[in-house]
Amino acid sequence: MRFRGLLFLENLMQHPVVLIAVLAFFAGSINPCTLAQDVPPKELTASTAEALLATTAVFELFESKCNDCHGAHLARPKGKFGYVMDLKRVAENDEYVVPRDATKSELFRLVNEDEMPGKEAKCGAATTAEKVALRAWIQLGAPHQLSDQLIARQASLLEAHPATVKQTNKNESLFEKAIAWIGRFHAASTHFPIALLLAALLSESLAWWTRKDTWLTCTRFLLILGGSSAVATATLGWFNAYAGVSQVYQLHKWLGTATAAWALMCVGAAVFYECREGTPERYRLRGALFLGAVLVSVTGFLGGAIVYGLDHYNW
Ligand code: HEC
Repeated sequence: MRFRGLLFLENLMQHPVVLIAVLAFFAGSINPCTLAQDVPPKELTASTAEALLATTAVFELFESKCNDCHGAHLARPKGKFGYVMDLKRVAENDEYVVPRDATKSELFRLVNEDEMPGKEAKCGAATTAEKVALRAWIQLGAPHQLSDQLIARQASLLEAHPATVKQTNKNESLFEKAIAWIGRFHAASTHFPIALLLAALLSESLAWWTRKDTWLTCTRFLLILGGSSAVATATLGWFNAYAGVSQVYQLHKWLGTATAAWALMCVGAAVFYECREGTPERYRLRGALFLGAVLVSVTGFLGGAIVYGLDHYNW
């Protein structure tokens, strides 16, 4: 009497196709990792390399063509979107990115249809290669893992926020701290020289127009107040611990200092010279006052531009 098992084996031998299928079933269930224990746990697979490549391309696109208007360094980023270099945050915003579906992603549509970067952007529209990379990145699920080098670059781009530009030195003495605190009144104090010097110019124009000496007295009063407040404001500006590096800031700083010196000279001229209407001294003072009003206005504009950007009066 034969065993059933043997019968089964005999049948198998007669049907090689079935035999191969059975062997393949067992072979497939063997985990290769149990055979080779020392395989590195996280090898770079083709798909992570692909993701890294796409993420790098998108990072470079964002840095070269979007960061100027949507960067963390801007006090007022365009469209209230100021974190373009924070890929994780961009990817998580479902209004912009639908992972694995570029056609439903507003961010892709904007770039693909050349709405972004805007027409006035200096960098020009995104190239086809850049659009393809952005699409690939979204299709891969919008990953945010970057190379170490780019992580460092990303950190410096994200850190450049105006609020963090202000130096907070833990080792500063009480005296230094007090000086920096007083310096914070710089922005508030700028209103005085701007308004008073412009009012002095108005008063001087009325003196010239009406030929009434009372306006001369008025100019003198406004000029003394405006000039001294200009000196006070410039001094507060130097006390201010703002450590900007932009050209706008540098220009503001030195033009502001020059404005204060100029205003002081005008005060000197008005006080020490007897400048009646019609004298050469009066004409000189008038010209100097006009220049002072221009200087204080330009300095004030640049001061605003440090906070709000040069384009803050754009229509
Ligand atoms: C020259 C400046 C400029 C550049 C460069 C620029 N943008 Fe914009 N972006 C804008 C302006 C302005 C708006 C606001 C438009 C509006 O509200 O109609 C905007 C809005 C957006 C918005 C929509 C924000 C929202 O929620 O309404 C997204 C997304 C965007 N930009 C993405 C990009 C990307 C991606 C790039 C780079 C490929 C880019 N932008 C480059 C100026 C720019």
